[in-house]
Amino acid sequence: MVIAIDGPAASGKGTLARRLAAHYDLPHLDTGLLYRAVGAIVLAQGRLEDEAASVEAARALDVATLDPEALRTAELGEAASVVAARGGVRAALLDLQHRFAAQPGGAVLDGRDIGTVICPQAQAKLFVTATPEVRAQRRHRELIGRGEDVAYDTILADIRKRDERDSARAAAPLLQADDAVLLDTSALDIAQAFAAALAIVEARQQGR
Ligand code: CDP
Repeated sequence: MVIAIDGPAASGKGTLARRLAAHYDLPHLDTGLLYRAVGAIVLAQGRLEDEAASVEAARALDVATLDPEALRTAELGEAASVVAARGGVRAALLDLQHRFAAQPGGAVLDGRDIGTVICPQAQAKLFVTATPEVRAQRRHRELIGRGEDVAYDTILADIRKRDERDSARAAAPLLQADDAVLLDTSALDIAQAFAAALAIVEARQQGR
């Protein structure tokens, strides 16, 4: 079974993907980490604006070396969204995502284009969202918890800018697949959101 989870920044899709993966004992890929890693490499080289450098970094990426802790900063979220708008970067990361999804038994992938581009045949597709204010609150709490000193207003502005860039780009824009189920988590805590996500996946499994 392949479960595809998409949604805008800090919508809670990562937490839901991890929980669903644990529940069904499936491997999980947070595809945002791929773009964050490419962003980290070109930022370190001082070449964020250099498209060829980002494509080269994407081609050389080794999933085994991804360090989620180091990659989940606000700065790398922004850099990820810049490199992710480049078709060459996305093309270079296609193969490894397809291979991950094709594992025997299935997989859970979360990102922006899983249900639309990477796994259009996924058995269950969720589009997870929440209001920008709720998402900014959650991300603020998360970043403060990690020791990053960022203001709520800065995060809200960053989330709005990133959503706009991710939705407006020509290459695999953030989009709800026609057959994805919308899950708005604005008024739900993690346990409630997980229960709702599970109900959606179970219904899909039973062909409902
Ligand atoms: O955790 P958060 O929702 O803030 O971001 P993320 O999922 O780690 O993704 C960071 C950035 O990578 C996004 O803003 C997108 O621009 C890009 N991305 C993408 O284009 N396609 C994906 N499948 C996953 C992430």
